[in-house]
Amino acid sequence: MGKSASYICTSCGAKHARWNGQCDVCKEWNTIIREAPLSAGPTSRSLGGRRGNSIDLTSLSSIEDPPERNLTGMTELDRVLGGGLALASATLVGGDPGIGKSTLLLQAAAHCARNEKNVIYVSGEEASSQIRLRASRLGLGNASVRLANATSLRDILATLDAERPDLVIIDSIQTIWLDNIEAAPGSLSQVRASAHELVDFAKRKCISAVLVGHVTKEGLIAGPRVVEHMVDTVLYFEGERGHQFRILRSVKNRYGPIDEIGIFEMTAIGLEEVSNPSELFLSGRAKPAPGSVVFAGMEGSRPLLVEIQALVARSPLSQPRRTVLGLDQARLAMILAVLESRCGISFAGLDVFLNVAGGLKITDPSADLAVAAALMSARDGKSLEADTVVFGEISLSGALRPVPQVEKRLKESKKLGFTCLHIPADGKRSDIKGITVEKHGDLGGFVAGKFEER
Ligand code: TYD
Ligand code: MG
Repeated sequence: MGKSASYICTSCGAKHARWNGQCDVCKEWNTIIREAPLSAGPTSRSLGGRRGNSIDLTSLSSIEDPPERNLTGMTELDRVLGGGLALASATLVGGDPGIGKSTLLLQAAAHCARNEKNVIYVSGEEASSQIRLRASRLGLGNASVRLANATSLRDILATLDAERPDLVIIDSIQTIWLDNIEAAPGSLSQVRASAHELVDFAKRKCISAVLVGHVTKEGLIAGPRVVEHMVDTVLYFEGERGHQFRILRSVKNRYGPIDEIGIFEMTAIGLEEVSNPSELFLSGRAKPAPGSVVFAGMEGSRPLLVEIQALVARSPLSQPRRTVLGLDQARLAMILAVLESRCGISFAGLDVFLNVAGGLKITDPSADLAVAAALMSARDGKSLEADTVVFGEISLSGALRPVPQVEKRLKESKKLGFTCLHIPADGKRSDIKGITVEKHGDLGGFVAGKFEER
């Protein structure tokens, strides 16, 4: 079988005909390895050489609606999943070691078990006694979750086949190995083959399978993107060290929305769900200060208020610094260029530092106007009033573009006590009692109105 081995990039999963020092797809060095094919035709090696049976073909219209889901009972997690774990599905939960994946899934498993579900938690990393210790610390000591400490996929699948659980958690996919593959656990071929078998098993036996995957320092689930392609849902659990909150983000979801986030706080008794994240992200905010602007963004279907902070200082360098945390560097460059060429405001000779408070990462382009406001406010040393919220996308012409979900953003701002909003003109009426909405057609108008004296 080894004769038709191929080469695969462990960074991007691209296939190559021969070994090469550099992957010409992702340009990474030393990432290409030789790899035996996953299966070759109808007699798959990983299935022990048995020939397959013919598969059933069903007409689209006669297929029944998807079955109900396994609710985990953790509202943030269920929402990110799109209403619980789908049956006959596989979910990959990725994240840095120590971020709290095992804690999250143990809590989810315990909740599920409380709803009379048959839940099995297989750990290849921790002894059952360690998990038991953690469970008691989380106050879940008497949950009816069954634990196993196992790494052999053949044994795990045999057990699952006999037990028929509703939910199985495999912690982590990097510790699982198949005895007919000659590679160490955690290697690309083991991870790929194990994930493949597990996903296939979950689909056939109508089980919700959750696979934990550690992320390498490059931010990829060790081994391969290939696992991401195999599963139905990919969730990333993220957080900054030193910050107590964690963000669960869906980056792929065949059964629900993507870009939805769930927010948790790591406490002494496990992960607590944060149902009002705006309060959390604004909680450390001091009184109005130059360079600080509150932005109303959308994270998935939810509005989220965060503070954008800018610092502008005279630069000793011939090439002034542009340092960004939590936002796209190119976005800052664009906003500075628009301020310069459309509003005549130059940042030449000035260092610019930009930060999203709380360690959040923002990709929503409607942060543009808030960034511009923070830059202007820092540059002029003039703070916006404490009750002000800003959002809007800036186009290269300097015009402000309308953004989606204005009403949700306005309502969230009002809920948190903000009463004055600066937003792009969108030709619609935005009357919400108790708040003033100022609409601006272009960046120049906004800047002139707010920071006229320069
Ligand atoms: P863990 O779930 O083991 O992380 P992962 O599975 O992603 O590697 O979480 C480990 C960290 O979480 C550890 O540093 C301690 C912290 N923690 C708490 O702060 N409170 C708790 O109740 C628990 C169980 C863990
Ligand atoms: Mg763990």
